[in-house]
Amino acid sequence: MKKEVGFIFDLDGVIVDTAKYHYLAWENLANSLGFNFTKKQNEQLKGVSRVESLDILLKYGNVKLSEEKKQSLLLEKNKEYLEYVHKMTPKEILPGVNQLLTFLETNNIKFALGSASKNAPLILEKVGLYERFTAIVDGNDVSKAKPNPEVFLIGAKKLGMNPENCIVFEDAIAGIKAANAAKMISIGIGDKKVLSEAAYVFRDMTEITPDFLKNLIN
Ligand code: BG6
Ligand code: MG
Repeated sequence: MKKEVGFIFDLDGVIVDTAKYHYLAWENLANSLGFNFTKKQNEQLKGVSRVESLDILLKYGNVKLSEEKKQSLLLEKNKEYLEYVHKMTPKEILPGVNQLLTFLETNNIKFALGSASKNAPLILEKVGLYERFTAIVDGNDVSKAKPNPEVFLIGAKKLGMNPENCIVFEDAIAGIKAANAAKMISIGIGDKKVLSEAAYVFRDMTEITPDFLKNLIN
């Protein structure tokens, strides 16, 4: 088996389901501003940076605020989100993830994290996966959010791989676009119709078989 490939994983929605915690915190914030925020609307926030998420939320509520007020709301939202994160345990690792990481380790294939979240290192520590990643690229390392490929290109560099030899796992449309823009192989985790731009799509990580991985690597 060839080993000159690198894997890059998105965090939220691929490794753990933190979208539900983001939703609770954003919903609370919307309610405090006097409007409702639905789960369907929350879909539009997946893969999107914290600052952009607030702008999208405020548009839904038709609310305009000063920069200063927005900054204080971002701090408040993150504080509430972190209350959920602090309670996370390895039980929250999504099904199939551990098996996939073990397969990569057994085959000496390096993997990195490529996430928009500034809380990514903390979340990986809470679920006990931090040490297993060769490199971690998070929301603190990038200046251009997905669909810009920056996060994945930095990940490839940190793995010492050419972008064309990297394989990206993503649950968000913006993330698939970013992987494709980086000329990497994009694997969508979720709905085929939503992630139609991905090279491959699986419902969840348990559907990824060793045979599929072996074909991909060779
Ligand atoms: C992405 C999530 O991974 O990280 C988004 O899909 C989130 O929903 C973004 O807004 C930023 O996360 P954080 O933890 O920095 O607020
Ligand atoms: Mg995601």
